[in-house]
Amino acid sequence: MSLQNNINLDAKKILLINDKGNYTIPTDGLYPFQWNWDSAFAAYGFAQFDIPRAWKELETLFSAQWNNGMVPHIIYHQIDDSYFPGPNIWKGIGPIPSSGITQPPVVASLMKKIWELDTNYGNEQIRLLFPKVLKWHRWFMQWRFQEGLVFINHPWEAGRDNAPDWDSALAAINPAGVAPYKRRDTEHVNPLMRPTKSDYDRYIWLVQQGRECKWNADWLRKNSSFKVADPAMHFILLRANRDLRLIGINLEEDISEIDSWIASLEKGASKLWNASISSYDSFDLLNFNFAGSISSASFMCWYAGLYDKRMLTHYDRIMKKVKYGMPSYDPESKRFDRKRYWRGPSWAIMNMLIGFGLEEVGELKRASLLKAQTNRAISENGFAEYFDPIDGSPAGGNTFTWTAAVWLGWAKTMGGANGFN
Ligand code: GLC
Repeated sequence: MSLQNNINLDAKKILLINDKGNYTIPTDGLYPFQWNWDSAFAAYGFAQFDIPRAWKELETLFSAQWNNGMVPHIIYHQIDDSYFPGPNIWKGIGPIPSSGITQPPVVASLMKKIWELDTNYGNEQIRLLFPKVLKWHRWFMQWRFQEGLVFINHPWEAGRDNAPDWDSALAAINPAGVAPYKRRDTEHVNPLMRPTKSDYDRYIWLVQQGRECKWNADWLRKNSSFKVADPAMHFILLRANRDLRLIGINLEEDISEIDSWIASLEKGASKLWNASISSYDSFDLLNFNFAGSISSASFMCWYAGLYDKRMLTHYDRIMKKVKYGMPSYDPESKRFDRKRYWRGPSWAIMNMLIGFGLEEVGELKRASLLKAQTNRAISENGFAEYFDPIDGSPAGGNTFTWTAAVWLGWAKTMGGANGFN
């Protein structure tokens, strides 16, 4: 059997090992529950060989949707003490024990792709999910949108937990009064690959702030101590709305509300442009400063349907410095740290989203390079949580669901102007 076939089988095996029946965990030990965007990627991975299971994943995710429309970032379907912070620290207010924040809304876009793989089976499923996804997007536009920008109330909401983008916003928080806690992540993974204690104190302090107001979205919108506009969140929501709109048209639903969101998000995107570094950047809504970050989030503009050629210069510059996919942070920045989580490593999911964007705007050569590098990272080093972008070493957790899903749904076929350079 060829190497390619072996890897395909291994990828399926990982999804099956992490499959808890109705939902998939990211990896055993480090992340033993259902995570929001991980699940959307898992569904896309399952869809490559088991369409009904893919829909089941999304259905389970939305069973945890809050009354106000939010879909939480962690859903604790069962008890497991090996993870901190657990449901009693969060005290989420939904139908199933959960965290109190959300994650990037990739669901609509991946759901559309799953539906396109089998519209017969998918028709009924998508009809059931459409109003729920619409309600979630409405929650974003009502509670996480200000001055044209989509913002986050916690670094974990971006899914890019310790990105340098949040450094100055976090530094402004005094975590005095944070209740004593014991981290569990560093028992599973080398602490050098994880966020620092100073970051962690502030993460937990922000959780306390949300819990104390009982996750009141209106209060948090006005008073949260952390409000940063994130390009990835903004671009992913814009793209998700475009896909939801197309689904809505197909279902003969009224899409006027979605149209107005698309217009607002398109307009707001220009405010994320930081001319001093010629890049899309994160922007702090509490002190009106840019973060000064060129990160994998900056390249999500194409995925949002904005063919902004200005980002191609940074893209080419950065891709010349790496061999295993787009690093999560500019390798020429002082803040770049090639092993530490979202401060440098390459993540297969980000590569895939950026790759989709490049393919769609017609930048096929650049898209193939990214795919080829992702393919190389996985074929040489397995299904790690993330990779050192320079030498490909696997880092973080292993047997990771979303890395396996990206392999099955995108990286396994190199095709086209296949290009390592
Ligand atoms: C980490 C990542 C986040 C992901 C989660 C589960 O917290 O930063 O994006 O959803 O792990 O894989």
